[in-house]
Amino acid sequence: MTFEIKNICCIGAGYVGGPTMSVIADKCPNININVVDKSPERIALWNSSNLELLPIYEPGLDKIIARCRDKNLTFSTKIKEKISAADMIFISVNTPTKTKGIGAGQASDLKWVEACAREVALSAKGHTIVVEKSTLPVKTAEVIKTILEASQPNSNELKKTFDVLSNPEFLAEGSAISDLESPDRVLIGGESNDAIIALSNIYRNWVPTEKILHTNIWSSELSKLTANAFLAQRISSINSISALCESTGADIREVARAIGLDSRIGSKFLNCGPGFGGSCFKKDILNLVYLSRYYNLNEVADFWESVVKLNNWHQHRLSELIIQNLFKTVCGKKICILGFAFKANTNDTRETAAIKICKDLLEEGAFLCINDPKVSKEQIHNDLGLESLKSLTNYSKRDDFFNFEGQWIFEDSIYKAIENSDAVVILTEWDEYKKINWSKVAKIMRKPSWIFDARSILESKEIISHGLLFWRIGDGSLNV
Ligand code: UDX
Ligand code: ADP
Repeated sequence: MTFEIKNICCIGAGYVGGPTMSVIADKCPNININVVDKSPERIALWNSSNLELLPIYEPGLDKIIARCRDKNLTFSTKIKEKISAADMIFISVNTPTKTKGIGAGQASDLKWVEACAREVALSAKGHTIVVEKSTLPVKTAEVIKTILEASQPNSNELKKTFDVLSNPEFLAEGSAISDLESPDRVLIGGESNDAIIALSNIYRNWVPTEKILHTNIWSSELSKLTANAFLAQRISSINSISALCESTGADIREVARAIGLDSRIGSKFLNCGPGFGGSCFKKDILNLVYLSRYYNLNEVADFWESVVKLNNWHQHRLSELIIQNLFKTVCGKKICILGFAFKANTNDTRETAAIKICKDLLEEGAFLCINDPKVSKEQIHNDLGLESLKSLTNYSKRDDFFNFEGQWIFEDSIYKAIENSDAVVILTEWDEYKKINWSKVAKIMRKPSWIFDARSILESKEIISHGLLFWRIGDGSLNV
């Protein structure tokens, strides 16, 4: 039996649910899509008439919202009502790493997924296909299925039936819309052929059939964890070599180019940086580690755990290096942090290297002036667990900052953020930082003036020609 899908409900209006449902709505005008979330604040932002206020920044998203919202795409908190009306439900809620109990620090906390499954079990009507979209540990579909099957209505109501599918999302933030519009592949795992076909038919509206892969449900769940683990492993690999380059006089850009031209290795994901961030990489690897240990595969667990360990070490290495170069103390010095998001083109700061690096510098007594084109002051406050200084009269005119030890302030203007600082640290590769006027910078910084480029986006000749001291990640020619 083929199911025709007319009404979709997506639970979770976050970085995955929001863009994914927007693209499905755009490509399938005949399907009604209702995105629901338990957070009224988040939903209000999705519904704001000023599209600059959407809760997530993603290039191209505002245009799709303008086209589809209130036509075949709605955002609301009517969770029960929209579940009842749906033929297909996507679960796109967050699954952070557990902070306490069994598996703390490694296993994913499935409490939100479980809450959704219970809500679906209660409110769904007739036959419903439930699709897990959140990144989940292997065998989560089984948990969802057990909860759904345990729920049956009173004898006089229609029996409820469910199919559970795994359809992991491979979009990367910052390029979510193009990733969704032209995916490398769409993966659908499940047992029911009819349900798989129903979901495939939705994607076939814009994705070529040969890119839609069908697997068993566990292969699908494990593929998502493995894809992220492989990608993260490449970044830890290149970052580890960047440290070696700095010590030996090699240049990581040359090494990355040379190895990337080997078609077996390929050139993508070879940019060194301040360490990977984002909501997925660390969480997924730790899930893989937890799973491997559960099955007594300790060598496998150790192998993947080392990718995360290297990333942690690398982030602290950068803060230590900044402190070393500033005569081993940053106390009473102003350090300008350019970029707080975990990568360019997103306002997401989950697991961003900037959190660890800023905390290290604050701990050492630095005064930080932070700039990011899309991350808000409030978000940075949450992430650092420290309020920003309210207002500072004439702080930029000072030449020491001992009164502001271990404090920070947000600054919208790049040049104001840089003014009178001892060091500028680039942590996110935003385009605006590639266009900075270094001659102007040289005139407004305190001397000696250091520029630390942790994203390798700047050219040394230009910076050095203005009398600035320059460190670039992985560039040993500057440091030996
Ligand atoms: C990742 C996966 O790419 C995506 O398929 C999955 O669905 C979710 O997790 P995302 O976290 O959004 O996506 O961003 P990604 O582009 O993978 O970057 C992750 C981190 O690695 C960022 O901090 C980024 O700056 C860093 N990175 C990436 C590098 O340091 N170097 C690179 O070459 C690439
Ligand atoms: P992701 O990156 O996986 O999309 P986000 O944290 O950006 O993660 O989004 C997850 C969303 O799911 C949040 O807006 C949160 O409020 C919502 N959410 C979590 N649990 C539930 C639930 N039980 N019912 C409805 N919404 C939920």
